[in-house]
Amino acid sequence: MTKKTAASLKANRSSLVHKARYALRNPGKVVPYVRRSARDLKLRLTHRDHVDYYRAVMASDAARDPKAAVGSQSEERWLALGRMQFDYLVEHGLGPGHRVLDIGCGNLRAGWRLIDYLDPGGYYGIDISPDILIAAKDVLAERGLQDKLPHLTLTHDLTFSFLPEGHFDVVHAHSVFSHSPIEVIDECLAHVGRILAPDGFFDFTYDRTEGTEHHVLREDFYYRTETLVGLAERHGLSARFMRDWEERPHGQSKIRVTARG
Ligand SMILES: C[S@@+](CC[C@H](N)C(=O)[O-])C[C@H]1O[C@@H](n2cnc3c(N)ncnc32)[C@H](O)[C@@H]1O
Repeated sequence: MTKKTAASLKANRSSLVHKARYALRNPGKVVPYVRRSARDLKLRLTHRDHVDYYRAVMASDAARDPKAAVGSQSEERWLALGRMQFDYLVEHGLGPGHRVLDIGCGNLRAGWRLIDYLDPGGYYGIDISPDILIAAKDVLAERGLQDKLPHLTLTHDLTFSFLPEGHFDVVHAHSVFSHSPIEVIDECLAHVGRILAPDGFFDFTYDRTEGTEHHVLREDFYYRTETLVGLAERHGLSARFMRDWEERPHGQSKIRVTARG
């Protein structure tokens, strides 16, 4: 997991200079990067819409290994990353009687722990990838959580039009906006206020830059904190940087959004 340093927070990973320096330091990663670039280029040409494109990326990744598809290179890391998300939520306001919406739930890395902890029916996971949702159902069965009756739903957008008003105490999106262009984040922030319960909160992670905002292969997006806080405020929400998340061994940062007033 990348550690955040002053230099990494300023780096522009899309620049040629950065890529050349990175290649010199990590020669073993050059061939996989070239392969990934070629695959992504092909997928970008055949899928113009970002969600269609990213769904195809997930289909390709999940076919190889669903755990790697959500960003964990081993079972151990998959378990640890899920625990980190879960522990943080419990330490920051989640209770067993809460109703949780997990946006981009993936193959339930944190989801299976949330399902286990919450009262039956308390968990709602949505994702754009049918392949990863099938993998999620496998995890659900492996963990013996059928009786908890979680909802797992395929979505194409983040308007939440099919979900009830004021319903969710907790909305959560881990490692989703790090793969999202600003239009997707804007859509989410424009609509999440409607489905949040009055005292509810929405926690999301993002790849933080303190330099120029940029993306790599339209797979990984880097944003400044003030951009995302400003966007939430424009949609009538309050947003704050979760400083204590920075102490956890994770490469992304976290923002908490609540209804204003
Ligand atoms: C890196 S994985 C993280 C999965 C899960 N949150 C976790 O931490 O294990 C990102 C997930 O978000 C999903 N995703 C990406 N963009 C999305 C969007 N706009 N709406 C819903 N899900 C999305 C992907 O399909 C993928 O399953």
